[in-house]
Amino acid sequence: MTEWTKHNLLDIQNLTKEEIELILNTAKSFKEVSSRDVKKVPALRGKTVALLFFENSTRTRVSFELAAKRLSADIISISASGSSLSKGESILDTAKNIEAMNVSAVVVRHSTSGVPKILAEHLEPSVINAGDGCRAHPTQALLDMFTIREKLGRIEAIEVGIVGDILHSRVARSNIWGLTKLGAKVTVCGPSTLMPVEVEKLGVKVSYDIDEVIKQSDVLMVLRIQKERQQDNFLPSIREYAKHFGINKERLKFAKKNLLIMHPGPTNRGVELSAEVADGEYSVILDQVTNGVAVRMAILYLLLGTKETIEEKQTL
Ligand code: CP
Repeated sequence: MTEWTKHNLLDIQNLTKEEIELILNTAKSFKEVSSRDVKKVPALRGKTVALLFFENSTRTRVSFELAAKRLSADIISISASGSSLSKGESILDTAKNIEAMNVSAVVVRHSTSGVPKILAEHLEPSVINAGDGCRAHPTQALLDMFTIREKLGRIEAIEVGIVGDILHSRVARSNIWGLTKLGAKVTVCGPSTLMPVEVEKLGVKVSYDIDEVIKQSDVLMVLRIQKERQQDNFLPSIREYAKHFGINKERLKFAKKNLLIMHPGPTNRGVELSAEVADGEYSVILDQVTNGVAVRMAILYLLLGTKETIEEKQTL
């Protein structure tokens, strides 16, 4: 049986296939905890988890908070506005001060790639990457893989189409690393201006034909078009994007019967997917959010649980 040995969770690249499977299997038992009347276990009693969100978030932040609470950990929560960062304190100084208050883990989101890695190099507590720049969003990829496995029963050999702004997407990168490691066949699709150079080297196929990708896919992972990047002229217009790559009911006419439509959120309804599709029969978008809590419980538990708590889990 695989034993968890890592101190930090910085990206999916560093995890073996067995470690990914251990997280997914552990999350399965924590999902059951979240369905109970009393959604709490004592696994991390006495531990403190610091949430350092220096970039906006709804799903990741709230689900980490819930995950820590359901494991009986204490939490502290810091954002850029309202903290001494706004007075000029560096991120590392802020993090060192949090460390001095004896926290067990630091969950960090930042708009600059590499910040979680730098914190991990300087801090004693475990560091968990909750999304850094365009680089990685490992816990999102893990909850996506959990959802696929839960719905389809496996990941090996399934066809996954990742559609949209691949260039700027940390979700796409982390999913490519994870899904290919677990044996999925991944095709990326989007405008050529939003396709990273030599993306094939990550083990994926590239297509510019959205209808072909829809037809072949078991899973369609739709990414947010980042409206804030419009001034960079990556797209002629949002309307053009929606016309050529937006997922709508008409386009899904040739989809497989059991297709899963996923989106990490937040969604732009009417841009990358229509409201009808977001709320429609193929959509598992809210299942992803539900599963995010269980997956983040598993990650906190594996990183912070002691031998005793891990043995206690057998009787959860
Ligand atoms: N998927 C995701 O990271 O969403 P948030 O930005 O709301 O956390």
